[in-house]
Amino acid sequence: MKKVLIVSTSPRAHSNSEALANAFAEGARAAGHEAEVISLRGRTVNFCRGCFVCQEKLRCVIRDDADEICQKALQADVLVFATPIYYYEMSGQLKTLLDRLNPLFPSDYAFRDVYLLTAAAEDEEHVPQRAVSGLEGWVECFERARLAGTVFMGGVTAAGENPEHPALVQAYRMGHEI
Ligand SMILES: Cc1cc2nc3c(=O)[nH]c(=O)nc-3n(C[C@H](O)[C@H](O)[C@H](O)COP(=O)(O)O)c2cc1C
Repeated sequence: MKKVLIVSTSPRAHSNSEALANAFAEGARAAGHEAEVISLRGRTVNFCRGCFVCQEKLRCVIRDDADEICQKALQADVLVFATPIYYYEMSGQLKTLLDRLNPLFPSDYAFRDVYLLTAAAEDEEHVPQRAVSGLEGWVECFERARLAGTVFMGGVTAAGENPEHPALVQAYRMGHEI
């Protein structure tokens, strides 16, 4: 049984990338894992101050929702990030959160596998590429971890506009196979 932490970073209710997050969680739960989905909607994630206190104390000086997510991420075996594509990149919300997960860097983190789930209006293969390589950069800093898989839901603009999208099945399967 693995502990799976899934962070959905879209600010929209019924968001497309959040649907991927939920499908991944369902797949993981069906396989007997413990999966928690946390949405950043309505939560407060402040910018990293670059003070480096976290590298000694293993905890951020800012007490907000990122601090709480970081404590959970420390215990998780699997980390999953879901993001809308904004200007051919990951959302600012996700980048801000990744920076705030800096206390994990010197810690004895448990996660080994990291996944990225993305949604965008366009459907071309290249659309999520920069978001994937951005997360690869983050994962590279955690030597015991790897980017284990990605799912892209293309061709969706309005929230929840295609509940039959094949990417949802892909996300479920990926969650099931962790
Ligand atoms: C600020 C902003 C920038 C966007 N940039 C892109 C883009 O570069 N390429 C694209 O295909 N879609 C882009 N979109 C559309 C979203 O990716 C699309 O609506 C997606 O379904 C949102 O995911 P969500 O429902 O999880 O929030 C953008 C949307 C916003 C609000």
